[in-house]
Amino acid sequence: MSLAVVNCSQLVTLAGPLRPRVLGEMRELAIIKDGAMLMRDGVIEKVGARVEIEPLIEAGCEVIDAGGRVVMPGFVDAHAHPVFAGTRADEYEQRALGATYQEIAASGGGIRSTVRRTRAATLNELVNAGKRYAEWFLRNGTTTVEAKSGYGLTLEDELKILRAIKRLNEETPLSYVPTFLGAHDVPDEYRARRAGYVALVIEEMLPRVAEEKLAEYCDVFCEEKVFTGDESWRILTAARCHGLGLRMHADQLSLSGGAKLAAELQAATADHLEHTDTEGIKALKAAGVQPVLLPGSVYALGSTRYPAAREMIEAGLAVVLATDFNPGSSPTPSMPMILSLASTHLKMTPAEGITAATINAAYSLGRGDQLGSLEAGKRADFVIQDCADYREIAYFFGIEHVRQTFVEGRSAYRRGA
Ligand code: NIG
Ligand code: FE
Repeated sequence: MSLAVVNCSQLVTLAGPLRPRVLGEMRELAIIKDGAMLMRDGVIEKVGARVEIEPLIEAGCEVIDAGGRVVMPGFVDAHAHPVFAGTRADEYEQRALGATYQEIAASGGGIRSTVRRTRAATLNELVNAGKRYAEWFLRNGTTTVEAKSGYGLTLEDELKILRAIKRLNEETPLSYVPTFLGAHDVPDEYRARRAGYVALVIEEMLPRVAEEKLAEYCDVFCEEKVFTGDESWRILTAARCHGLGLRMHADQLSLSGGAKLAAELQAATADHLEHTDTEGIKALKAAGVQPVLLPGSVYALGSTRYPAAREMIEAGLAVVLATDFNPGSSPTPSMPMILSLASTHLKMTPAEGITAATINAAYSLGRGDQLGSLEAGKRADFVIQDCADYREIAYFFGIEHVRQTFVEGRSAYRRGA
């Protein structure tokens, strides 16, 4: 089955070296003006100027006219918690009235309130809730999402969430990369004996998750009052022995040494980093760890403590942007909203934002060879944005930019359809 897209005012290809982009490279989007793209069986065959591509279009090929709009790779959202039951609209209201995220968590709400609801839900209920969010991702131009467990916190409930992620990957057009986050919080029944919970994660959960091949990565929420550096080290070291890649929630609410630990473990990513200092940034650079910045959670928590994105870019880190979609700290699936926050608050240019949300994100998930740019041989995951200049995606905020989203050359969302 062959497919062509023509009449792209800007074909934002992100073609470039076969590695994550750093420094000035983050501003190079390899845009083809009046571009076009040929695809076959869900894979990109050729990308170029319209005049070069159009003569190659064979009879029987489906041709999509982008109408002079921007065409770019689907967003790769490298940090999300998209499987949970219920919402926390009640806590959002309490926070508007002055309560803080940490106060709510300390009194048994926060992550643990979503855990109670998620434990009570069936696999089917989680899949159905997840399908609603899958549609939100696609309608905002995301074609691949990293998906963490972490709202079960018992062996069976963590497996249930990971099985829901597997089903969502099979039953929706969105691609999911599963991450085991058994160490998201210490559940209610282990509050008085936390060592027992760490042992459960290491001795029972990790072996089962690995044996059933339900996750590619393991993540830990390393934070004061959650998991200490030592506990995080033990869990992540065990995960590595089971063949899992490593990611980490690091230095989100305080400078707890998370970035340094991620560097010591040579994790794939260190995520959040709102409190990371210059030393932490140097450690990440020396170890080749990619920072995943999540300005949606800073914004939604009403904080002004954004991560030091410019310092990270200038230090040569291959910065990634993601939504952190979850029911508590960041209830948005929208990468365009994240690009707006990145330009306004992280002082990243719109081009740097797009690089961080596509090719760099793909590399952080071990998929840089398949996703994140529009180049021959890559998966035909692309988006037609309703603008002629890619900078408008970050600039106009609070609107829906996407006109149509394609996954493996098939339409996965079309506005108004
Ligand atoms: O990335 N920091 C820990 N986990 C999430 C929040 C999850 C929640 O509040 O439900 C985060 O911000
Ligand atoms: Fe998170």
